[in-house]
Amino acid sequence: MDVRRIGIILNGVTGRMGSNQHLLRSLAAIRDDGGVVAGDDLRLLPDVILAGRERERLQELANRSGFAQTATDLNQVLEDPRYEVFFDASGTSFRAGFLDRAIAAGKAVYCEKPVATDLQTALRLATDCERAGLPNGVVQDKLWLPGVCTLRRLRDEGFFGRILSVRGEFGYWVFTGHDAAEPPQRPSWNYRSGEGGGIILDMLCHWRYLIDDLFGEVRSVSCLGAMHVPERVDESGQVYRCTTDDACYVTMECDSGVICQFNSSWTVRVRRDDLLTIQVDGTAGSAVAGLRDCFVQRHERTPRPFWNPDAEQPLDFHAGWERIAAAEQVNAFRAQWEAFLKHVALGEPFPWTLRAGAKGVQLAECALQSWRERRWVDLDSI
Ligand SMILES: NC(=O)c1ccc[n+]([C@@H]2O[C@H](COP(=O)([O-])OP(=O)(O)OC[C@H]3O[C@@H](n4cnc5c(N)ncnc54)[C@H](O)[C@@H]3O)[C@@H](O)[C@H]2O)c1
Repeated sequence: MDVRRIGIILNGVTGRMGSNQHLLRSLAAIRDDGGVVAGDDLRLLPDVILAGRERERLQELANRSGFAQTATDLNQVLEDPRYEVFFDASGTSFRAGFLDRAIAAGKAVYCEKPVATDLQTALRLATDCERAGLPNGVVQDKLWLPGVCTLRRLRDEGFFGRILSVRGEFGYWVFTGHDAAEPPQRPSWNYRSGEGGGIILDMLCHWRYLIDDLFGEVRSVSCLGAMHVPERVDESGQVYRCTTDDACYVTMECDSGVICQFNSSWTVRVRRDDLLTIQVDGTAGSAVAGLRDCFVQRHERTPRPFWNPDAEQPLDFHAGWERIAAAEQVNAFRAQWEAFLKHVALGEPFPWTLRAGAKGVQLAECALQSWRERRWVDLDSI
């Protein structure tokens, strides 16, 4: 068995996503399992250098992850030919600056979403990579969620008949920080415009690739955003004014004719099966997927309800749904990392490029325009 080492610079690794999802649950887990199996006699072994600004925090993560190398001088490590991949999980507003440097250094580029805070920059970054012939990609983790994989399978099997509409409900309560016993579980930059914040920019990137993949290309969007909570407390205990949206109510039309409505909010309390639920209604059946499980109701088991608020509801609307348990799958971020490493090492297809990621930024930008101008906005082809 040959082992090929792939050097990866992990930038912004001390953040929530960098440390938990990318370092520990993806790259360290891949290494612990002996690498990515790539054919009968080859394994791809990630060798990570942890890049960031704070030496002590990097060292603590090095100890936890078992990847010993750290770097606070990014220029120096970008010049090091032993590292062929640059990955960025820093805050959204820093992404483009970091990617520019990695592209100039000739690295393969992979990053968290959104690719950039505006479409023009996202497309320019994609073009720069393409011109330089650099492998490139953006995280689209929801595509590998077990619940989403079940929806894709049901669609491919024709379970739904003709798909009519899709309802996505995403969100949970993010504590404001005013109560010291309940610290906020998201970084304060999420609530500041000009720092890459806002739930529209954050979540519509996800909804774009999810809808495009499952139901048809998004063609038009209508969005109402809101800043429901105007004041929060930051990481250092300082009260600050929020300057961007913390909820959005979005309707989208696909080229397939499917109509999708997605609510996204950091200001709701959960009384549903999961943090994200996606209900798909079709002529032959419906499904409601969470992150892992999925429930289906076939046409034959569809109840015939009647409206009579004067009597107890005789129907149990939860009956008639069958649970499809999650298939055993690796972590969604890890699954995409494995595909990216095979793309870099073996040239295997990787459709989740920076250009594909730019479509998410486009949807966010058009949604913001729709909200501002209080009208439907059509999306151009990318
Ligand atoms: N795929 C997903 O489901 C998902 C979920 C959450 C966040 N994200 C994305 O991941 C990215 C990071 O989000 P997060 O929640 O981990 O944020 P975070 O604030 O926890 O982490 C940000 C990281 O960037 C670093 N950083 C900040 N300023 C920097 C600078 N000037 N120079 C270098 N590094 C700097 C911080 O030290 C930290 O390591 C965002 O772009 C966000 O949109 C993706």
